[in-house]
Amino acid sequence: MRAYEIIHRKRDGRAIPPAAIAALVDGFTTGEIPDYQMAAFCMAVFFRGMDEVEVRALTEAMLRSGDVLDLSDIPGAKVDKHSTGGVGDKVSLALAPLAAACGVKVPMISGRGLGHTGGTLDKLEAIPGFRVDLPVGRFRELVRDVGACLVGQTERLAPADRKLYALRDVTATVESIPLIAASIMSKKLAEGIDALVLDVKVGSGAFMKRLDDARTLAATLAGIGRRMGKRVSALLTRMDEPLGRAVGNALEVAETVALLSGGGPEDLREVTVELTAEMLVLGGAAADLAAGRARVAAAIADGRGLAKLEEIVRAQGGDAAVLRDPERLPRAPVRYDVPSPAAGFVAELDAEAIGLAAVALGAGRARVEDRIDPAVGVVVAKKLGDRVERGEPLCTVHAGEGSESRERVTARLAGAYRIGPVAPAQRPLVLERL
Ligand code: URA
Repeated sequence: MRAYEIIHRKRDGRAIPPAAIAALVDGFTTGEIPDYQMAAFCMAVFFRGMDEVEVRALTEAMLRSGDVLDLSDIPGAKVDKHSTGGVGDKVSLALAPLAAACGVKVPMISGRGLGHTGGTLDKLEAIPGFRVDLPVGRFRELVRDVGACLVGQTERLAPADRKLYALRDVTATVESIPLIAASIMSKKLAEGIDALVLDVKVGSGAFMKRLDDARTLAATLAGIGRRMGKRVSALLTRMDEPLGRAVGNALEVAETVALLSGGGPEDLREVTVELTAEMLVLGGAAADLAAGRARVAAAIADGRGLAKLEEIVRAQGGDAAVLRDPERLPRAPVRYDVPSPAAGFVAELDAEAIGLAAVALGAGRARVEDRIDPAVGVVVAKKLGDRVERGEPLCTVHAGEGSESRERVTARLAGAYRIGPVAPAQRPLVLERL
């Protein structure tokens, strides 16, 4: 079946045979099928969805586009975590070193910013010198010797996702359960893991805005992993406001350092501890979640998590000194506050709008070839339920010389907040476990 016929068929809501999906993915990976046809296919999938057989075929084709690592010769359980994407979600930066410091091996293939969400690779690259494009052999060595390695998709590791991810980022084709499931699981199954923890985000800053959709995505992801013989657990976590306060690459690295130094925002700490504890349980490094949480808390308190992050940064070519002195991270030349237009309580916070404002400042991409500015972003001063006076700062913008104008950024960010007369009821961060 030609690419045109596949697109046509999906556009009209008909299923695509697995062999045709495999051919499409192969052709796209090798460059025979151009971006415009793949973008059209993704848009058709966005509107028409895929059945279980198609999702499996897409995941397997994307997995087979590169190497599938065998890390069984490396002692210890290999466990990873993946988030479906959020705003201010810097959990992986702290979780990988914490899990490694607590005795599980973390081979992590991550992504870049996607749509309005940030990406682990862009955050790591805010650390001068940090390399996310290591050869497979070095990736193996670092998982074995350091305990964790964080890389991107390469020509050899999940190359189909590497291309497709970049294309979806700029063609508004991200929020699709089959495309997200195949993207995540093709990377994760290539890593040589024994177990995987999924952080499925729900809310205004997530790709899944509704709990039911998040449940479907979690079940799809977990089903693919379990069928491939992996131990998988999934947590549905709240993403109805940015996680922590920092949104933007270098700002998020600094907040990670604060967390690993025993400080940082409470919500970020809770989600990080919870997901890392889950990894320890799946990897046999803790008997139960309570024991896992205690181990992770101890690794934060005694500095082993931060020391492990420094070791990872050094091993991947980065300047670890910035972790002891985050003032040395890239800094934006322009800073200004966004004042509250009214007094009251933060009743709603549109995290997607905050994420899009950060992208417009230069923290993410509008086109595949765009370069991001590691220094820019937003630091949220007021979060859900906070009391605010008229004129008090809601958030602080860190802008570059070429960033979108102050008026437009201020309007975007002020529009992300709804200030009301009463504080909304507090909801737990971890909504469900699967
Ligand atoms: N994370 C991924 O790796 N891929 C997606 O499509 C969404 C989130």
